[in-house]
Amino acid sequence: MRIVVTAGPTIEPIDAVRFISNFSSGRTGYAVAAAAAGRGHEVTLISGPVRLHPPAGVRAVEVAATAEMERALREEFPAADALVMAAAVCDYRPRRVFEGKLDRSPAGLTLELEPTPDILAELAAEKGGRVVMGFALEAEDGIAAALRKCREKNCDVVALNPPASLNGGDTEITLVYPDGRVKPLPLLPKEAAAELIVAELERLARGRG
Ligand code: C5P
Repeated sequence: MRIVVTAGPTIEPIDAVRFISNFSSGRTGYAVAAAAAGRGHEVTLISGPVRLHPPAGVRAVEVAATAEMERALREEFPAADALVMAAAVCDYRPRRVFEGKLDRSPAGLTLELEPTPDILAELAAEKGGRVVMGFALEAEDGIAAALRKCREKNCDVVALNPPASLNGGDTEITLVYPDGRVKPLPLLPKEAAAELIVAELERLARGRG
């Protein structure tokens, strides 16, 4: 299969030298890309800024802002068989990007944020026969929220992550399907969880037949 994987955070500029982002390490997405390449798939990894090297055998595309990730995906998604949207895309960005460097002011600073485009929802709305996996990081009532996102974003499956998995280490993923089925995976190193995720993509793609 041709598999597109997104990973890491996106970053949104505030001014010429500052940005907002999140703590995503990128490890889950990189592990999925490595596992997919290891199983013989053709992998494109679209990644925000992280402290990881792209795995061997993977075509890497580096992006920064959400709009850049969206542009890269719009190029890669049409020829793909599957999308794994593991990136921690910023949900908000500053409505206005200041020119130059904002001066420090004792009065403080109020930033107005606007929602970013929901890349996953937009792409999956026209997914055709492609297999689309979303990710969800939920603190409470995770399964209900993941199911809602799975349906709203037209995904074939959502990988629900506990917030503790954001920074690396092990992860305890629950796969949630649009029909309400739930498949809990054990607590595993991200590399082992990635193998199960790729096996799941293969299973879903076979189901498309
Ligand atoms: O709504 P939430 O951010 O929890 O959804 C998470 C899923 O949606 C992830 O797969 C993430 O990559 C994707 N997403 C996106 N574009 C956004 C926000 C999230 O594609 N602007």
